[in-house]
Amino acid sequence: MSTAAVLNIPKSGATSTPHGQQWSVVVFSKDEAIKQLVEHLNANHFTCQDALSETVTEANKRLAGRGLELPDIVIIDLSDCANAIEEATTMAYHCKGEVKLIGVGEENSLQFYRDLMLAGFADYIPKPVVAEKLNEVMETVALGQSHGKSRSKTIVFTGARGGVGCSSLAVNSAWLMAEKHHRHTVLLDLDPYFGTLSLALDVEPSTGFIEAIRNPDRIDDLFVNSALAKAGEHLYVMGVEENLANHLEMSERTVDPLLHELSKNFEYIVIDLPRHALHLQKNLLDRIDELHIVTDLSLFGIRDTIRLMAHAKHIREDCRFKIIANRVGAGKDGELTKEEFEKAVNQTITVMLPEDSGNCAFALNNGKALAEASPDSKVVKELSAYCAEIVGAPKTQKKNSILSWILD
Ligand SMILES: Nc1ncnc2c1ncn2[C@@H]1O[C@H](COP(=O)(O)OP(=O)(O)OP(=O)(O)O)[C@@H](O)[C@H]1O
Ligand SMILES: [Mg+2]
Repeated sequence: MSTAAVLNIPKSGATSTPHGQQWSVVVFSKDEAIKQLVEHLNANHFTCQDALSETVTEANKRLAGRGLELPDIVIIDLSDCANAIEEATTMAYHCKGEVKLIGVGEENSLQFYRDLMLAGFADYIPKPVVAEKLNEVMETVALGQSHGKSRSKTIVFTGARGGVGCSSLAVNSAWLMAEKHHRHTVLLDLDPYFGTLSLALDVEPSTGFIEAIRNPDRIDDLFVNSALAKAGEHLYVMGVEENLANHLEMSERTVDPLLHELSKNFEYIVIDLPRHALHLQKNLLDRIDELHIVTDLSLFGIRDTIRLMAHAKHIREDCRFKIIANRVGAGKDGELTKEEFEKAVNQTITVMLPEDSGNCAFALNNGKALAEASPDSKVVKELSAYCAEIVGAPKTQKKNSILSWILD
């Protein structure tokens, strides 16, 4: 039995697609030429289930209400859309990884393409779209050979300093994506000696993972499956607690095939990267576009955030960062303001999380994620909003007045 079957992964998790399969396609576009191209796709492989004259916003409303039987592939026209990436992310959210998404549109920049891939799209074709190109992209996507990271998104957390809450944020982000947003998520602990993820979620550290670290050549889906511990309906953990007397090195030779296998079956791979494991950054930065740096608002935090960013930029010039300030207001002497910190590191802080030692200690002592043990804590509320953004959950609109309610 494959890992996908064991983990009950949705159909996009299938590792190969048999030739000859008929793929159902829905296109959303106001452009008649695009709809006609889709209606005349290679009939041996593709059946046009629907060609709808709808904008991406209208398409999202339809998908949210499930006013459509989900096809295998959706082609969506992103022309004339002010918030194309936001709408695309929302569409990927509604399709829950079960549908391959292909965008078409006027935009023709590399950054736009990369943002779409990050949002969960399988490919993008700038206009003018011609039949040969469309058929070629469709075949590539259908056969699971698209270069896009449509199936899996990797999120790496690293701490600028010790004890700033990096592991806690990895645990809680993964928990929220998995249990609140129902995304198949794996939490990967890359500290073989002092990792805390398994302990935090009260699951057994994995001996299978130790074997994988020792024998990277043997890593395959069965091997990886045996190394996973289930920590929730959609949440799995991979972490070890190696005896300090043994030598065990987490190297690129392990991390590369491991991520390759995990990405076949999980929508999100959340990684807790020890900040001293700089040698692993190269592999990871090849797979991600953003590094999450967790810090406090201290002078030391500034220094090491700057150093981590410089190191990452040295490896990958176009690397972007999300800075998460945690334990804010812990009452430590010398805590800087948000503005002072941002000015010093020349980067905005994405999320500010307050000190909440009472709830954190309660969660820890109960072997639960804080998000599960104390869902009303301020830390969880802020982190939850950020995770909703990551998975592309549509924003919940606040109704300000009876009038706006009536007009809606
Ligand atoms: N917002 C918070 N408020 C209060 N305590 C917190 C908060 N976030 C994390 N903690 C607590 O801080 C301690 C350290 O957290 P954690 O182990 O996640 O940090 P870390 O950065 O991963 O540390 P290390 O450098 O050792 O890996 C834990 O006891 C955790 O419960
Ligand atoms: Mg840690």
